[in-house]
Parts: sequence; C-alpha cells; structure tokens
Amino acid sequence: MRAAVLGASGYTGGELLRLIALHPELELVYATSREYAGYPIHYVHPGLRPFYRGVRFEKLELSRALEADVVFSALPPGVGVRIVAELYEHGVQVVDLSPDYRLKDPELYRRLYGFEHPYPDLLERAVYGLPEAFRDRLRGARLIAVPGCNATAVILAALPLVRWELVDGLLVADVKASSSEAGSKPRRADHHPEREGSLRPYSPEGHRHAFEVEQALSMATGREVKVSVVPHAVPAVRGVLASVHAVLRDGAGPQDVARAYAEAYAGEPFVNLVAGGRYPDAKNVVGSNYAEVGYAVELRVGRVTGFAAIDNLVKGAAGQALQAFNVSRGLPEDAGLKVPPLRP
Ligand SMILES: NC(=O)c1ccc[n+]([C@@H]2O[C@H](COP(=O)([O-])OP(=O)(O)OC[C@H]3O[C@@H](n4cnc5c(N)ncnc54)[C@H](OP(=O)(O)O)[C@@H]3O)[C@@H](O)[C@H]2O)c1
Repeated sequence: MRAAVLGASGYTGGELLRLIALHPELELVYATSREYAGYPIHYVHPGLRPFYRGVRFEKLELSRALEADVVFSALPPGVGVRIVAELYEHGVQVVDLSPDYRLKDPELYRRLYGFEHPYPDLLERAVYGLPEAFRDRLRGARLIAVPGCNATAVILAALPLVRWELVDGLLVADVKASSSEAGSKPRRADHHPEREGSLRPYSPEGHRHAFEVEQALSMATGREVKVSVVPHAVPAVRGVLASVHAVLRDGAGPQDVARAYAEAYAGEPFVNLVAGGRYPDAKNVVGSNYAEVGYAVELRVGRVTGFAAIDNLVKGAAGQALQAFNVSRGLPEDAGLKVPPLRP
C-alpha cells in the first residue's frame, strides 16, 4: 500500500518514516515539509539515510496526497483539518496524529484549540485510535484520530479501574512529560537551556488532554468519568509516565485491582503488565510501541494508583498510528512494530 506522511520533517513525522520503513505492507510515496521541500529525507533525519535513498521532502499538495492509499497526517493542531477532510471525502484513508478529529464536541475546538471546527459532522465518524479500548470500532475505519501521548498513558493506566468500577469520584492524573512532546519547533520555554534540569507543572487547570481522556473512558465503559490531568515537564527527551490516583471504592481490595488489570490487558500485544513490587518505567519502553502498565494499592488510606509508561513519539503517536492502521486493515496488529525498546 502507498503511504504518505504530511509533516514528515517533524518529530512524529520522522517516527512515522522510521516505522513505515519496517512495515511489510507500506511503501512511502510522499513526505511533506515546507521548510525542507527539495531536501533529501536524511537531511533532517540522518539515521534514515539507508532506508530512503533518493527520497525528498515535497510541498504539501492535495493532488499528491491523493495518490496514496493511506495518509498519515502529523501536522500541528488545526493545520491539517481541511486537507484531512478532503482526503477522506475523496475516499483516501487518513490516520491523523493531531488533535483535530479526536473530540466529538465541536465546541471544545474553540475553547481548547482556538479554532472553529469546519467539519463538525466528520467528528462523529472519526474513530479514536486506541486499540486497547476501541479495537472493534477500528476495523474498517477510514478516519482514525490517534490519541494524544499524555492521554494514551492516562487512559491505559486508568481503564481497568473504571471498567471494573473500583474507584469513587475524581481521577487525578499526574503526568511526567518529556521535551519531545513539544515538537521540533519549540517556544522559549521548551528550549534546551530553559528546559534542562527544570521540574515544573504546566497547564494544571484544564489540560487539553483531560477532555479526550474523559471522552474515551466514558465511551469505553459507559460511565461518566471526571479526570484532572496535571502534567510536569521533566528533563528527558522521550517518554511519558502517568500516575492516576483515585479513592478505592468501599469493599474493593488489592485482589480486585490485580484481577482488573490482568483481565483488561490479557492478550494485548503492546501492554506489558508489571506487578510484584515492580512499577512502570519509561526507560523500559523508549524506542518501542510497548506500554508498561502497573498499579499500587495503599489500603491504609483507601488509595489506588494506576501507572502507565510509554514512548510519547511511538505508543503516544507514530506507533499507535500504525497499530490502529493495522487493525483497520485486518493486518497483523504488530506489523512493522515488533521493535524492542532501547535499554540502557
Ligand atoms: N510530539 C509528540 O510527542 C506528539 C505526540 C502525539 C501527537 N502529537 C501531535 O502530532 C502533530 C505533530 O507533532 P510533532 O511533535 O511531530 O510536531 P513538529 O515536530 O513541530 O512537526 C510538525 C510538522 O508539520 C509541518 N508543518 C508545520 N506547520 C505547517 C503548515 N502550516 N503547513 C504545512 N506543514 C506544516 C512541519 O514542517 P514544515 O514547517 O517544514 O512544513 C513539520 O514537518 C501535532 O498535532 C501534535 O499535537 C505530537
């Protein structure tokens, strides 16, 4: 199948190119960048030189993208909202890594992202691309909205607690976020001298991902869920760790929690459940599409915490995009994704 990547010079675009090079069914036919149009792929992504000799970035044009069977769009929020809709209307499958089609309520785009959504009808048709929660809906999907990186980690950490009704009230997600989340064109606050060594919360009141987490957990479980997401910038290039704290429901205990996580993730190809005194660590998954998930129960105060660690650019973006694409096409779910993490 012919694949196009829009925004291929960026961080998630580069990860898409890396994984497409390993995918047995995909051939890259088009990769866009405005700044690097005409330059070879390896000018921006030097490690990909042996995989894409002679391939160059091109300008973004609908007519070129229409030549693909599947278009992966890794453009900044709002930038690709029209071309994604046009490709979809022309019958091309689109896997969108931006937030543009994740939320069902068009009003939230004005509030959270500062633009009026031009295709509110399409929001209903987009499938949220988290296979662990929506695998059945993804089969045959033509418009896939890949979840945000923080959202992926929070949902994977919390899903068993909500699905098995083990918690009461609000979920509070403490997220440790790495610098590559900010993309390759950083603002001053994300610049290395400012960011290195810094440990600080950001957007702790109404983080954008809280809305997609609430939507996804509510859709996956049929229960209304309230979540507060508090990310912290940490001095790491890749990785997300979500610790989701909640009050354990009266009568529930450690065995219920253990059973819920074991059942939720039995047979999941990309979830490694860690237990027995071990807890998820982003270092164990970086470079791969795997998620480490775990939990802790402190009965003394009736608190339960779900944990998930992922690589924000892989399970939090490009890898998850390919995993959801594989499901949509009935391919082996791990096609192109059987890449072990880097360690140490
Ligand atoms: N970074 C993460 O951890 C992460 C995780 C999940 C989802 N996402 C989402 O994925 C998307 C891409 O993120 P990223 O981190 O890869 O960003 P990035 O590194 O800044 O890359 C953005 C890409 O889009 C292109 N672009 C920017 N403005 C454009 C415009 N007006 N018209 C056409 N092309 C344009 C850029 O190239 P040119 O400027 O040369 O055109 C570049 O190739 C975002 O929507 C982000 O929210 C990111």
